[in-house]
Amino acid sequence: MLETASALISPPLPVVWPRFEQPLSLGIMASGNGSNLEAIAHSIERGELHARIGVVIYNNPGAGVAERASRLGLPAVLLNHRHYPSREALDHDIVQTLQAHGVDWVIMAGWMRCVTAVLIDAFAGQILNIHPSLLPSFPGLRAVDQALAAGVKVAGCTVHHVELAVDSGPAIMQAAVPLEPSDTPPTLQARIQVQEHRIYPAAIALAALENVN
Ligand code: GRF
Repeated sequence: MLETASALISPPLPVVWPRFEQPLSLGIMASGNGSNLEAIAHSIERGELHARIGVVIYNNPGAGVAERASRLGLPAVLLNHRHYPSREALDHDIVQTLQAHGVDWVIMAGWMRCVTAVLIDAFAGQILNIHPSLLPSFPGLRAVDQALAAGVKVAGCTVHHVELAVDSGPAIMQAAVPLEPSDTPPTLQARIQVQEHRIYPAAIALAALENVN
């Protein structure tokens, strides 16, 4: 059997991570498990990503991300979308919460709600998302299933700037994950997540670097 190539990351991970005048102040938005939150937090702890996490916002009571935030000693705020009359009303409270915690970069890590201009205009150019496909292929839900059903040979993940249309906006960093003949959605998803955890912290640094240059 052919050996599986290791993931190709473009642009490559930094050898020397940038230091900023002030650590970046991140607000993480998540709906589910929170493994990307944890990867970003560990990258900060290791002294790679020069940042602090000001607040974690989540929308599903009982989401794994809340337990992770508590274990990591991070403030977490539940904004349950079910209690809001509109997407705009939810985004208004999200903006207030992010601003109250001094956040300047909004990091969507498995946030499963469409966002509106209320959020996008408040943090113009400073909202990032991660998606488990090589965008623009397979936007939307069940991206890993979509890739498998399409019979692609290479899957992957993308960190991109957030625009109004779902999973659109310029890519910042991508990692390619070659398929294996025995892949199922869970096995492929697991390998993609390993790469997500590598590229998200680096992509945050890269986006911030591009902003100051
Ligand atoms: C990731 O696969 C990400 O690409 C997608 O949602 C998932 C979040 O995973 N947007 P986790 O909650 O960070 O573990």
